[in-house]
Amino acid sequence: MVNAGNPDYRDSGLEFPADFLLGSATASYQIEGATHEDGRGASIWDTFSATPGKIVNGDTGDVADDHYHRLEEDLDLMKRLGLEAYRFSIAWPRIQPTGSGPANKAGLDFYGRLVDGLLARGIRPIATLYHWDLPQALGDQGGWTNRDTAYRFAEYASIVGEALGDRVATWTTLNEPWCSAYLGYGSGAHAPGVTSRLATLTAVHHLNLAHGLAIQELRHVVTNEAATYSVTLNFHVLRDGGHQSEEAIRRIDALANRAFTGPMLTGAYPQDLLEDTREITEWEFVRDGDLEIIKQPIDFLGVNYYSTATVRMWNGRDVRQNNDGHKPSSGTAWPGSERVEFVAQEGPYTAMGWNIAPDGLEELLVDLSGQFPELPLVITENGAAFDDEVREGSVHDVQRTDYLRRHFTAAHRAMQRGVDLRGYLVWSLLDNFEWGYGFTKRFGIVHVNYETQERTIKDSGLWFAQLIESHAIPEYRPSVGS
Ligand code: FCB
Repeated sequence: MVNAGNPDYRDSGLEFPADFLLGSATASYQIEGATHEDGRGASIWDTFSATPGKIVNGDTGDVADDHYHRLEEDLDLMKRLGLEAYRFSIAWPRIQPTGSGPANKAGLDFYGRLVDGLLARGIRPIATLYHWDLPQALGDQGGWTNRDTAYRFAEYASIVGEALGDRVATWTTLNEPWCSAYLGYGSGAHAPGVTSRLATLTAVHHLNLAHGLAIQELRHVVTNEAATYSVTLNFHVLRDGGHQSEEAIRRIDALANRAFTGPMLTGAYPQDLLEDTREITEWEFVRDGDLEIIKQPIDFLGVNYYSTATVRMWNGRDVRQNNDGHKPSSGTAWPGSERVEFVAQEGPYTAMGWNIAPDGLEELLVDLSGQFPELPLVITENGAAFDDEVREGSVHDVQRTDYLRRHFTAAHRAMQRGVDLRGYLVWSLLDNFEWGYGFTKRFGIVHVNYETQERTIKDSGLWFAQLIESHAIPEYRPSVGS
């Protein structure tokens, strides 16, 4: 790959178009807390977090950032940063406590206040319907392995679309269905903690189906004619790890990436995916007509990117490496391709142990735009965890700022190479509950003190505010004392 600018991606002064959307993202279970209030039902993440051994330090989302009670303060914070867009998710069990039936008014009211508060501050609301908090009652009936869950999701989409459809700017059906299926039902590192290869692939299909059904419902009920529709996927950017790496890359690309882009964007599951998984299933859960439902026109594709993965086929002799970046658990996240080895990658690393590779983002964007030339892209998540500390009222998060600067440069380079990239949302607005890692990993551009709930804008947040204001990548000057 040829790069015009600095090989280290530390450019500055690069400008983004005036209509390029700059903002930040969060997810309901990671920030809201108030899990037992105003009629919210239990979700599979409440159950999973309450299960000993699943989350580091036994942390739960019961309080998290207490965002549910600090809505106004957090909205003001967004305004101070100058966010143009805010991507949040709606907790399904706040809307339908048992996953079906009539809406819980208090739940809808909360998101109504959030959306109104954003609009009042001139911030575009980007609503994700599913960022992993499935109502436990549906979990009890098999969760995403049960086809009916896709239809329940469509019903939920229609309720929310009807209530907020006059005001929400952008609708996203699912966040990272790869994680929901492969970590939730494969490796078991995420809720509901199932470890079954068949369940994983069944869940993949039902999530795809849920996406298609929900888009149909939304388009039906949403009254804001300017509203746009999307889905967010986390792409695995794959690198050559040596031994038979071409096969390894093809297999992981099929399982991680094309299992979703195939049906959603081209109307078919990739043939090689079906073959690679034939020993597990004949994919009989894909019924006639499903693929037509799944392939719905969308306005843009949401792209989440953090790092790359380097793969090769295991040689059958040495101890097999499994550095796939996901929290180790007892099951496999790679059904049918367990012989693929994820090898250790060159640093530097973030606190997640993820390698920092801005060129991977550029490569991904260019690759997607080559595959789907008509489809605009938005980076719906990018960011990094580091061990931050507040000192005299400041957080000098030099590494995060540098990470962001390099990735914004990568995005800009992709645009110069012709990619139709429309926006960039930084993960995350606030430090929050990082799933299996609990509160031990901080991704925020705003620091949260979990004892006092005090918010402190980190240097990366101040730098990002400058970027938003000028629509250009600012010079990077570590603040005094860093
Ligand atoms: C993504 C998730 C998000 C957050 C980041 C770090 O996979 O969508 O909730 O946990 O990773």
